[in-house]
Amino acid sequence: MADEKKLYIKTYGCQMNVYDSERMAEALGGQGYVATDTPDDADMILLNTCHIREKAAEKVYSELGRFKGLKAANPDLKIGVAGCVAQAEGQEIMRRQPMVDLVVGPQSYHRLPAMEAKTREGGKALDTDFPEEDKFEHLKSRPKAKRGPTAFLTVQEGCDKFCAFCVVPYTRGAEVSRPVDRVLTEARDLVERGVREITLLGQNVNAYHGAGDGGDWSLARLIWALNDIDGLERIRFTTSHPNDMDDALIAAHGDCPKLMPYLHLPVQSGSDRILKRMNRSHTAESYLKLIDRIRTARPDILISGDFIVGFPEETEEDFQATLDLVEQVKYGQCYSFKYSTRPGTPAAERAQVGEAEKTDRLARLQALLSDQQRAIQDAMVGREVGVLFEKTGREPGQLIGKSDHLHAVYVHADPSMIGQVARVRIIESASNSLGGELI
Ligand code: 5AD
Ligand code: SF4
Repeated sequence: MADEKKLYIKTYGCQMNVYDSERMAEALGGQGYVATDTPDDADMILLNTCHIREKAAEKVYSELGRFKGLKAANPDLKIGVAGCVAQAEGQEIMRRQPMVDLVVGPQSYHRLPAMEAKTREGGKALDTDFPEEDKFEHLKSRPKAKRGPTAFLTVQEGCDKFCAFCVVPYTRGAEVSRPVDRVLTEARDLVERGVREITLLGQNVNAYHGAGDGGDWSLARLIWALNDIDGLERIRFTTSHPNDMDDALIAAHGDCPKLMPYLHLPVQSGSDRILKRMNRSHTAESYLKLIDRIRTARPDILISGDFIVGFPEETEEDFQATLDLVEQVKYGQCYSFKYSTRPGTPAAERAQVGEAEKTDRLARLQALLSDQQRAIQDAMVGREVGVLFEKTGREPGQLIGKSDHLHAVYVHADPSMIGQVARVRIIESASNSLGGELI
């Protein structure tokens, strides 16, 4: 195609950004763009940024600096910044990096084609609104394009919880749920295109309350409706807040055949004093009780979580409470971070814990978490699990897939099995994966 243009998108951060990048690529497909995996010959470079990690904005500015040469060589190259840094920095991005043509916040992606057109006319385009309309309604995916076996599906965005450390309520805005029929239509479409496993995404996904038949539906009700879709074999969801785990969702973990035995349920700290200062509105004890109830419903469920060490005013005693909680829960997978300030969030203004203490606590926590993770992984040896094969492995004849518990599993099997769920016996546990054989 003569007027085909190349689009390079670099995605940072969470799975929701991965999903958003796919939607943006599809929306710009209508403008004649095809994806390329290098910035070198691109007609448009889009950075889909994340604000969760430390010095996120600075990293984006230095990344942009690297495209200066490309822009000088090709004045028609358009450079855009999307995602949470775009939302947080807005106009400032174009002030500091005048070569940036387009800045778009996460709630305005459906306006990208018009914004791109504006840049082609030589203008700059900035949109960091929180519009009323459902952006996903305007970001319909290309019909029938073949997909891999797994996909993300955003059902909820934004957050009203305002944890004292977190930028999400500011960058992604208030909590919004997509209507049930749109979610189900998108899910059916994904399945027709080859998807066998759907991970429902939301910053606070278990607060889902999308409009459906007879009023608002809970996440549990949505999951049960997805369970009825023929050809869909697995359902997952992430990320959840402990306070939004309702009875129906806990029960679904026991009863719903396609809902996988894996739950990401961040606790952040095991100290009630710190949890209160974090504005988490749960205690260590209420979290532990919740985990008990979930394990009663589904005894083999794998629990994963997020932790922050060195939150302002965290003492050694508070940190010990976190270690104690971890000892009790036994996590199968975890993400842990040193607290770092986010300008504009309440905790940024408070007395900070020293860097050396943070480093020491993080190392101790991670040592404990990785022992637990390893023990749970090793205990899979000898068990039979379902594995959804996703792709070929490095060794000839080998396929890689994910177990029900989201462990990576290597199995010798025919490539025709990609996209299928097979019963596998686990025979070995390596550092970050399992080895298995077909039953
Ligand atoms: N500092 C450190 N970690 C943070 N997270 C969110 N904000 C911060 C911060 N300011 C972590 C939390 C959250 C995960 C996505 O990132 O643990 O659950
Ligand atoms: Fe951020 Fe999650 Fe807290 Fe919402 S619930 S403010 S997304 S950490």
